Amino acid sequence: MKEKNEPSRRNFLRKLGTATAAVAVGQNVFAADKRNEVFAYLKRQAGITANDQINIALIGAGGQGSEDTNVALQIPGIKLVAVCDLYDGRLADAKKRWGADIYTTKIYKEILNRQDIDAVIIGTPDHWHQQISVDAMRAGKHVYCEKPMVHAITEGPEVIKAQKETGKIFQVGSQGVSSLGNEKAKELLASGAIGQLNYAEGFWARRGPVEVWQYPIPADASPQTVDWDTYVSNTHKRPFDEKRFFRWRNYTDYGTGMAGDLFVHLFSSLHFVTGSHGPEKIYASGGLRFWNDGREVPDVLLGTFDYGKNAMHPAFNLSLRCNFVDGTSGTTYLRLVGSEGAMDITWDKVVLKRNKVFASDDPFYLEKLRQSGDRNPERKKMLPPEEISYDADKGYLGGPYDHMNNFFTAIRNNGKVTEDATFGYRAAAPALLCNDSYFKNEPMHWDPEKMVKKG
Ligand SMILES: NC(=O)c1ccc[n+]([C@@H]2O[C@H](COP(=O)([O-])OP(=O)(O)OC[C@H]3O[C@@H](n4cnc5c(N)ncnc54)[C@H](O)[C@@H]3O)[C@@H](O)[C@H]2O)c1
Repeated sequence: MKEKNEPSRRNFLRKLGTATAAVAVGQNVFAADKRNEVFAYLKRQAGITANDQINIALIGAGGQGSEDTNVALQIPGIKLVAVCDLYDGRLADAKKRWGADIYTTKIYKEILNRQDIDAVIIGTPDHWHQQISVDAMRAGKHVYCEKPMVHAITEGPEVIKAQKETGKIFQVGSQGVSSLGNEKAKELLASGAIGQLNYAEGFWARRGPVEVWQYPIPADASPQTVDWDTYVSNTHKRPFDEKRFFRWRNYTDYGTGMAGDLFVHLFSSLHFVTGSHGPEKIYASGGLRFWNDGREVPDVLLGTFDYGKNAMHPAFNLSLRCNFVDGTSGTTYLRLVGSEGAMDITWDKVVLKRNKVFASDDPFYLEKLRQSGDRNPERKKMLPPEEISYDADKGYLGGPYDHMNNFFTAIRNNGKVTEDATFGYRAAAPALLCNDSYFKNEPMHWDPEKMVKKG
């Protein structure tokens, strides 16, 4: 049976022909050696001009927090005034990077108490996201919190509550959601470009030690330079362990494994593109195959997720895989598959592949066609394009810029962001339940509408 709003190939082709206002189709559509390839530039509408200065602070000034801050500072009218981190080296780096006048502290509540700070970026390990987010919103700050929004499935409702009660802008940091690539994929799916969705898959392959979380440990790491007591104050107390601090992703007290680190990005993009609220059934398998460095999480993980039919999409299945011992290192993709084609989605490119017109060689069928008036049913046909590549315009600033810009635009306009606390929780929950399924060796059941674990 067809879905009520089932997208169709004809619908898509009609739109491809007419709705080209924001898409410039490239010349190689006519190139002889690329007969069935078309490319199109994705263009971004001009953004809102900045007026008011917004003062920000960074809490957790490691790799991603610093990256986010650099992106934020590209946006007109954003000023960094303070940085909080638990390690002296990161505070010294912050002063070198952003100026000696930046206020630095190891106590995040000092940042929240300052009246001159409008918004905070939270780039701490996962186990601090919920507490700092809630405290920050309750202290009147807007919050950009890195993914996954929470470290445990039980932590989401508190963040949603704080956002609703304070009315602050809260955005989770899966940047792909704001990218041209994700927007185009959403538009293509809705227009029927791949027919009816039935399957999606994502994959990551990594191999190098740093890529798989064996980060370098600074030579001066010690209880004198690291505020270890604060670091473990909301989890199990243990003696100082530099690996647990600088390679936190490998340990369940602080990180969320491959699923929380990587799958969560694909849940965010998939939910944005399809309008889905999440899967109903989650099961995982995997194992620790190679990196026997004390890590508590697998280095090969497979997750299978069953999405039920709802108003936005038909029922479909999702398969996610991550391999940290993969000799092909560097392969990453998200693919949506439908009854009439498939698309590979990245932040700045969408490659759409559509199936060929079916040509039958069944003699019975051909005879029927002849009888119905088609005198030459074997004659070759004009084929529509089979592969269309949509590429972002040259100079596109990228998903991270767009995501940060959306955050500040929402603050300035008292507007909304897509990846708010509810969206963030719906993306984090299946990732966290994937870990639970792996460790408990049983499927997990989730109600994506009510956002509650079942069973
Ligand atoms: N969106 C993305 O593409 C992306 C990419 C990488 C990481 N991340 C996320 O960003 C977060 C940080 O990851 P990272 O790779 O930058 O880690 P990191 O180890 O490089 O940085 C974390 C920093 O937080 C500090 N910290 C720890 N606890 C703190 C606390 N209570 N208060 C203040 N500072 C504290 C640490 O000293 C460290 O400097 C993680 O949640 C991760 O999942 C997102």
